[in-house]
Amino acid sequence: MDFEQVLLQARDIHRVYKLGKNKVHILKGINLDVHKGEIVALTGHSGAGKSTLLQILGGLDRPSEGAVEIDGTNIFKKSDDALSQFRNQTIGFVFQFHHLLSEFTAIENVMMPAMISGKNKNELYGKAEYLLDEVGLGHRLKHRPGELSGGEMQRAAVARALMNDPKIVMADEPSGNLDQGSSNALHKLLWQLSRKDNRTFVIVTHNMDLASNADKVIEIFDGRISKEQLNQVV
Ligand SMILES: Nc1ncnc2c1ncn2[C@@H]1O[C@H](COP(=O)(O)OP(=O)(O)OP(=O)(O)O)[C@@H](O)[C@H]1O
Ligand SMILES: [Mg+2]
Repeated sequence: MDFEQVLLQARDIHRVYKLGKNKVHILKGINLDVHKGEIVALTGHSGAGKSTLLQILGGLDRPSEGAVEIDGTNIFKKSDDALSQFRNQTIGFVFQFHHLLSEFTAIENVMMPAMISGKNKNELYGKAEYLLDEVGLGHRLKHRPGELSGGEMQRAAVARALMNDPKIVMADEPSGNLDQGSSNALHKLLWQLSRKDNRTFVIVTHNMDLASNADKVIEIFDGRISKEQLNQVV
């Protein structure tokens, strides 16, 4: 596939953590581009800095140095409030642990990111229902997280990430806790969602099958990009 429009651009990203008197330099100058519609896999050994980088790309954490531009917006020029609003409107997140709220049903969880937008509740319900159906959970709308399987919870988390029509979805080891079958099903789902609506995904993964099916694989080693590979995926 050919990708033309650069959606996300990261330039010279550094992240230094202060631990007492010590400084730990975790990211040491990361430059990367993500194109619209592209699936990018971030790989690397445990502790390499993948989650740290994903949090910065998604505006959940600020870099010590460097800039991230998403759809033409330099996100770290924003105040914390403006940035969190931008995140809510522009970025969807899926984490290793689903982070669904246990006292709410699947459909309420999916509606959650849109609740603050002040939109009509019936409209939101219809959209959440559509998304749950899209991830194969049309028959589980009223189940609470404790009444869903691990794979189903992750699929609900994917539906929730899509609720505000994000320009980009960031996923941190979304299948890390799933068995092989559920993990394959989740990957297939992410690919379908991406190809169908030209959605953009950045996915941190240890799963080499998943990485080899991504359009681009970026490997992080010791806080730097050690390898960048384009795959010819249809
Ligand atoms: N708040 C923090 N303060 C200090 N060091 C931190 C902090 N958060 C993470 N680190 C360190 O930064 C390094 C990178 O962490 P990160 O979570 O990004 O790794 P990762 O590549 O996602 O690893 P994994 O595959 O195990 O999830 C680790 O060595 C970690 O100990
Ligand atoms: Mg991690």
